[in-house]
Amino acid sequence: MDKKWTPDSWRERPIVQVPDYPDLGALNNVERRLGASPPLVFAGEARNLGRALGKVSDGQAFVLLGGDCAESFAEFSADNIRDTFRVLLQMAVVLTFGAALPVVKIGRLAGQFAKPRSTPTETIDGVTLASYRGDMVNGIEFSEESRVPDPERLMLVYNQSAATLNLLRAFAQGGYADLHKVHQWNLGFVADSPAVAKYQSMADRLSETLAFMEACGMDSQSSPQIRETDFYTAHEALLLNYEEAMARVDSTSGEIYATSAHLLWIGERTRQLDGAHVEFVRGIANPIGCKVGPTMEPDELIRLIDILNPRNEPGRLTLMARMGADKVVEKLPPLVRMVGKEGRNVAWVSDPMHGNTIKSSSGYKTRPFGQILDEVKGFFEVHEAEGSYAGGVHFEMTGQDVTECTGGAREITDNDLFARYHTHCDPRLNASQSLELAFLLAEMLKEGRGRKSERIVA
Ligand code: PEP
Ligand code: CO
Repeated sequence: MDKKWTPDSWRERPIVQVPDYPDLGALNNVERRLGASPPLVFAGEARNLGRALGKVSDGQAFVLLGGDCAESFAEFSADNIRDTFRVLLQMAVVLTFGAALPVVKIGRLAGQFAKPRSTPTETIDGVTLASYRGDMVNGIEFSEESRVPDPERLMLVYNQSAATLNLLRAFAQGGYADLHKVHQWNLGFVADSPAVAKYQSMADRLSETLAFMEACGMDSQSSPQIRETDFYTAHEALLLNYEEAMARVDSTSGEIYATSAHLLWIGERTRQLDGAHVEFVRGIANPIGCKVGPTMEPDELIRLIDILNPRNEPGRLTLMARMGADKVVEKLPPLVRMVGKEGRNVAWVSDPMHGNTIKSSSGYKTRPFGQILDEVKGFFEVHEAEGSYAGGVHFEMTGQDVTECTGGAREITDNDLFARYHTHCDPRLNASQSLELAFLLAEMLKEGRGRKSERIVA
């Protein structure tokens, strides 16, 4: 690193997308309390994720990252956490079984509460107020009082994240994720979803495989991989007051880790090379991510990579391309080519959500399922053509039966959106749409691998 990094060196840099706290004394008080609180994740876990992502960077594993656009205090419940976790597990099994690839599972959970906004204010019926910036900052209710940034919300986020992580760890390691339960994960699912029948038959085959393995002496007791799973958390590192307060020195390595999540990423609106967000994230030892949108230039990307991953370590940096279905085949190739030519080790992941948000005729912000699928397809095609590895996907999704994205096998239309539109920010895939995408992806991965081995044989 050229200049000395400290957990607070971001404070010297220009910063965007952060709230103006009216009471700095109250903010400092919260920062102190957070600083004295136990870490939410441990450095060793973050290192394990780094190693897993290193395999992705080498083309040996696939990332599945998913969860809410914005977690909220109102939607906090054990059922919601379980349902999101369950759909992520189902998707991961579909990908692992269908494509024979290890899947690195990461939830946009237990910390994803702060949002960048396209405008600092919002006007409704002639009344202009500060924009809602996520429950970590202010309230979604359209009133003067609720839109005032309140630092006590950081403590609420910390506590909710701790409770969420506690449950996730129990699910991942306490028996819920045992592959023998693969049928049970389907219970409570919307019965008329076509993905459910497909899942059922895959689960049958998986159960047969497990019975065969058991006969060979590999069961839940002898093979922990069958009994439990590694599940990691990630969120956008937007509110740096929180992230700095949660940074801790790891006693084993002496390095400083962000302990609010295993992986932190930089958003599309805060990736300025000389900005505060890049400055904070470059110094933490966790694996990190950065969104890459259609305005990114190849030279700029290399400069950004060199700031974020100066030792060129595989697994350190995940780039999340979010171009839009109509731009991905034009905008992504020069970036992928440049990264390959310059020999930079990164894991490439597709975020097919954020470039495909539109306003529906019914007035809701939505994303058409077909566009999401098209962007993922484009992402795979570009990587195949460039001889690079398409390393994963990032979805905004929920385990609930919401109506926020149009399309999918159950053909949600613009006029259906109002029925169960619950998101606190961007529209999410519902449980059936998520599972459906996982099946389509598994097919793409399988076909891609088939073509690769044909090329090797030829
Ligand atoms: C997000 O992931 O919710 C987000 C705001 O994405 P982006 O920074 O890519 O716009
Ligand atoms: Co979003």
